[in-house]
Amino acid sequence: MFAWAPISLALDRHRRARSASQTATLHSVTNAGIEMNKQEAQKRAAAEAAYEYVRQGEYLGVGTGSTVSHFIDVLAERRPTLKGCVSSSQVTTDRLRKAGFDVEELNYSGDLPAYVDGADEVNPHLELIKGGGGALTREKIIAGSSRQFVCMVDASKQVERLGRFPLPVEVIDMGRSSVARALVRMGGNPELREGFRSDNGHPIIDVYNLDIGNPIAMEEEINNLPGVVAVGLFARRPADILIVAGKDGAQTITR
Ligand code: 5RP
Repeated sequence: MFAWAPISLALDRHRRARSASQTATLHSVTNAGIEMNKQEAQKRAAAEAAYEYVRQGEYLGVGTGSTVSHFIDVLAERRPTLKGCVSSSQVTTDRLRKAGFDVEELNYSGDLPAYVDGADEVNPHLELIKGGGGALTREKIIAGSSRQFVCMVDASKQVERLGRFPLPVEVIDMGRSSVARALVRMGGNPELREGFRSDNGHPIIDVYNLDIGNPIAMEEEINNLPGVVAVGLFARRPADILIVAGKDGAQTITR
């Protein structure tokens, strides 16, 4: 019923790219470089397609990550008239300001017509894993305050079942170990993200090998652990519009 038609091809391409980059020969380094360029080109294509959802004269929510960097480049080139942007991280705020856009607090802007961001994984229900860049808490707040959540990915991030990408969980320092133990009881392998603090000053635990058969239930279960600030599962508030860039260009999927 819900299935990605091109998923096996996409995964094959992804695996081939990964194994090529692991072989220490000049040839494989060149191949990995070409794959990398292709992936960057796909991110740029997704960012261009996302521009369609930018509303002139309104506030715009802008997320975090390398795909969003391409999106900010597109904004800088096309220069929409915006009331201002609401940003999910300091890095994005700095880039937007450098490009000449105003950045406002969400407390000031109120709800947003549109929020544009990337993701680390997406399933056929447009449920996501996010937080690879560590901005998950602010991303969740903005997504929850936006009428339209536009998510941009390249085809390698489409999965049938979430969980291949380690699930980020932002925690209060004091609850680090108790949350990690609870995550082990849930079947995961938690690893503290070494040397990392979120923009909110908190550590992040990346959880490997979780069986995420029911993303909404797991999101609620992890949210309820004392000490958890936010979990990078976006299932209760999934994307509304998914833009997937592959070798044949960008495809838009609506929930
Ligand atoms: C940051 C995120 C990013 O959206 C996610 O990590 C995807 O990043 P990229 O576009 O670099 O692949 O959730 O917290």
